[in-house]
Amino acid sequence: MVKINDNFLKLPGGYLFPEIGRRVRAFENPPKPLIRLGIGDVTQPLAPAVVEAMKKASEEMGRKETFRGYCEETCCAYDFLRFAIRDSYLERGVDIADDEIFVSDGAKSDCGNIGDIFDLDNVVAVCDPVYPVYVDTNAMAGRAGDYVDGKWSNLVYLPCTAENGFFPALPDRVPDVIYICSPNNPTGAAATKEQLKIWVDYANEHGSVILYDSAYEAYITEDDKPHSIFEVEGAKTCAIEFRSFSKTAGFTGTRCAYTVIPKALERGGASLNALWNRRQGTKFNGVPYVIQRAAEATFTPEGKVQIAETIAYYRRNAQVIRSGLEAAGLQVYGGVNAPYIWFRTPEGYGSWEFFDRLLYEACVVTTPGAGFGPSGEGYIRVTAFGDAGATAEAVDRIANLLK
Ligand code: MLT
Repeated sequence: MVKINDNFLKLPGGYLFPEIGRRVRAFENPPKPLIRLGIGDVTQPLAPAVVEAMKKASEEMGRKETFRGYCEETCCAYDFLRFAIRDSYLERGVDIADDEIFVSDGAKSDCGNIGDIFDLDNVVAVCDPVYPVYVDTNAMAGRAGDYVDGKWSNLVYLPCTAENGFFPALPDRVPDVIYICSPNNPTGAAATKEQLKIWVDYANEHGSVILYDSAYEAYITEDDKPHSIFEVEGAKTCAIEFRSFSKTAGFTGTRCAYTVIPKALERGGASLNALWNRRQGTKFNGVPYVIQRAAEATFTPEGKVQIAETIAYYRRNAQVIRSGLEAAGLQVYGGVNAPYIWFRTPEGYGSWEFFDRLLYEACVVTTPGAGFGPSGEGYIRVTAFGDAGATAEAVDRIANLLK
């Protein structure tokens, strides 16, 4: 008889966002329209340059002379896209070779799948609170141990609290794999170069690997916050970077992302770039041509202007949320270099309790901080990816609730 992967049975409950969806659906006949500021999903349409590129590429696919089947170029990605990504790094002074760039269908998939190239015995460190994908995928693989009292026994939790500016201190137990997300989901904090340098030196010293998720880098507004970990000296020998078009260019439903693995990154005598290339070559056939063309369009002069306008729109939402919630007396973090605002629940409320109050009394859907890990308890996350009018209305409703 078949044996299942019983690591799945150890997972507590459902994945966070479907669980929120379930609770929201259970709320029958809300007295006013629900405003959804829970999952960080974009609401603004694709840039016209992107849509044009998709149309043109679709037409090419409909003609014999220009039809494309499997992508046979390096790492299942067309040169036009890899070169455009490489050039965008260069604009920030970061020199990445085009064959260090792997195009995929999402940073979520890559952050999860990357575990394939690491041994199950590795000790994994995650920030707490954390994007649940890092934890759940390691738990599914059997690397997290057992779930006891809200924590996985084999994971190293790195608390990120208001007290440490939501950036983790080095742990007592040395981890082999270290996930860092900056700008951070969920806290909205962005690391400085100096903060990252501490981890880069630590990883190089101990032979660890940093898995750096910079899916939200386009939201950085402060000059002292690097957009890429490769802006930090030494990172090419210890870090893998995940990036995405989802939040940068509204591709959450379109699906395109990329992962950078420097060829200088070796562990156990093996090149991680070569291992990932082998993994992707075996399990993945690339992102559709039409979508790669769409992604390429985000790097054209008109594409850049158009996506910058949409990012500015979401940034204004973040500002509206920040200032409105602060004025309502809440302790608010994030939203300056990230599309997420993280606030403390009022005295006496746990995350889920206040989530329920916001849902049932204000008809606003948020994300309870506790869903991101033990240190998220007592916080709520709000996304800036909503419609501007609805976002302002949600802030008013929350402020009224607190009066
Ligand atoms: C979130 O809400 O944390 C994100 O949208 C989830 C994701 O990007 O996968």
